Order: sequence, then C-alpha cells, then structure tokens
Amino acid sequence: MIDWKTLGFDAYRTRTLVVARWKNGVWSEITETEDFSFLLDPFTCVFHYAFSCFEGLKVFTQKDGKVVIFRPLENAARLRRTARYLGLPEPGDSMFVEMCERCVKSNREFLAPYGHDASLYLRPLLFGAQPKMQLTPPNEAIFAVMCAPAGPYYGANLKSFSGVIPLNYDRAAPKGSGSYKVGANYASTFRPYQIAHNQGYSELLYLNSRTHEFIDEFGSSNFFGIKGNTYVTPLSDSVLPSITNKSLQTIAGDLGMKVEKRPIPLEELAEFDEAGGCGTAVVITPMSHIDVKEVLEEDAVLKSWRYRPDGEVGPACTRLYRTITAIQKGEIEDIHGWCHEISNF
Ligand code: PLP
Ligand code: COI
Repeated sequence: MIDWKTLGFDAYRTRTLVVARWKNGVWSEITETEDFSFLLDPFTCVFHYAFSCFEGLKVFTQKDGKVVIFRPLENAARLRRTARYLGLPEPGDSMFVEMCERCVKSNREFLAPYGHDASLYLRPLLFGAQPKMQLTPPNEAIFAVMCAPAGPYYGANLKSFSGVIPLNYDRAAPKGSGSYKVGANYASTFRPYQIAHNQGYSELLYLNSRTHEFIDEFGSSNFFGIKGNTYVTPLSDSVLPSITNKSLQTIAGDLGMKVEKRPIPLEELAEFDEAGGCGTAVVITPMSHIDVKEVLEEDAVLKSWRYRPDGEVGPACTRLYRTITAIQKGEIEDIHGWCHEISNF
C-alpha cells in the first residue's frame, strides 16, 4: 500500500516495464515484461562509453477521473534529438506514446489517485546494447519505459531549497552535451553533489562553462528568476530545453507576466525577488538562498544572496505552481491542450 502523503521521489519496483529492442535498423515488437533485468554482455557499449539517454514525464489522475500524460510529444521530440546526438535510433511519436500508455495501463495500481501531490513518473530509457570497443554508434539498442509512483523531489512541494554555485566544477563543456538528456551529464555532477549535500546544500547551480559569467542551470532543473512582474530564464545552448520551463513561460504570459529568455549575468542574482528551479521532478521549487564558492570543498563563501526565509515561498512561485498543477490535475481548463488523455483506461 503506497502512502501518497509521505511518498518521495525515487526508483520503485512496479509491476512491468515496456521494452522494444532495435537491431540493424529494425525495431522488435513492443513487449510488456515483469522481468526487470536486462541480461547484457560486459562489453556492451553503454557500460563503457555511456551511450545512454532518458526522459522524464508525469501522469496524473484528474478531478473527473481522466488519466493524462503531460505533454508526451515534447518528450518524444527531445528524446529523438538526444538519440540523434548519440547515434542511437529515434523512436517515433506513436511508438513513444504507445509505450508510455502501455506502461501506465499495466501499472495502474501505482497511479496516484486525484487529490494528492503525487503522480506516476514515467522514465523512458534508450541505450546502446551492442558489445563493442570501437567508438562508433551501436547497431543494437534497447528502448524501455518504466515508471515509479512519485512524490515531491525535495521531500515537500512548494518548500524552498538552498543552492550553491561551485566555481571549480562545470556541468557541461561549451558546445558539449549540456542541452541533451544524456546520462553522462548527470554522472559528472555526482561528486560535487555529494560535497554540497554534506555541507547542507540541496542543489548545485552551474554557470556557463566558458566564462563563468552567466547562469546556466541546476543539476536537476532549469533556473528561473522573478523580477517584479517578469519571469526571467537563461538563454543558453548548454542547458536542457525544459518542457516545464517552456510551459511556465506560457503560463506566466497567460497570467499577465512579462517573459524574458536571455543570458542572465551572475550578479543579477542580487536583483530577483524570487528565484528557483523548474522541471518535471521539481515542478517549480523556490530557492531560499544561494552561495557562490570559489572552491566547493572549502568553507569560504565568495558571495551569497537570500531570497526568502527558509521554507517560505513567494507569491509568483506559488501562483505559477498552483496554475501548472491545476492544469495537470484537470482543475482548470487546459487551454493549450497539454494533457494527453489515455483512452480506454
Ligand atoms: N534541466 C535538467 C538538467 C534536467 O535534468 C531536467 C529534468 O528533466 C530539467 C532541466 C527539466 O526539464 P523538464 O521540465 O523537461 O523535465
Ligand atoms: C526530471 O525532472 O524528469 C529529471 O529527469 C531530473 C532528474 C534529476 C530527476
């Protein structure tokens, strides 16, 4: 029995996963399996050369009982863009959506009922499955969609987190893989995360790697700042094009706010009334404060900005959070057509 009130965000063993295998240019049939183990040769390229990418999207039970996936075609398009970057096969829209729908249907007991701050998180995963040593794209791949019942990423929704900018770590190389959802982008943040967590910070905020002048993004989400009635978010070719951020920009416009997507100099952090992270897992989470550290491992803090007392959330973040979650839960009209209903559920 899942306790929806205390559920966090983590890996969770559900009933099935949905799998398709690709070999020499041809996809197999899509299968649902209760076997969660892939038997792979130790030479399989994903283990050595990180030919791996993934997606994340959420499924909601709405007020009227409909079950919807939030903007799945956006994730399908982003997965294809990443797959192309890695030389992996590109699942089409209908294949992507069918696999997501089948995963939800065959794991319906893990779907959060309406009325909770929980959802079913879908995790599509695509990786190179050919045993090989040459640095060329594999001719075998596996595309799997798994799911996990998910609560708030930081333990509670609409609760602020503390961040740190580590000047001695970068997230992605200039003109590198930063804007793609490749697993390797995450692996390279684990060490600074561990150090930051040990110091009591929840999140890492990275600057642009070439000059360290502008804000890029958090390790797990995009950055946004609120200045008066304006929603500001970085324009950078090294950040992941977040579907939540894109949606929040539209919602901010709908709510009469101005939206600016432009380079954000580090010093502008002093000028925001509210600031935080946005993404599928974190939804929209405000920051209480952010420190800049020349060397993450050392105690010295170069600069620090405080937005809110710990735990408190500003009015713009609250309004944006309430609007996007109300659309997802079917509490207000989905005027942009973002909720994809799973039919015959
Ligand atoms: N940035 C990074 C590094 C992420 O991992 C994510 C999560 O997917 C996001 C941003 C937010 O993207 P989305 O809103 O599409 O989930
Ligand atoms: C998501 O928000 O879907 C992500 O993939 C971020 C991850 C760090 C949980």
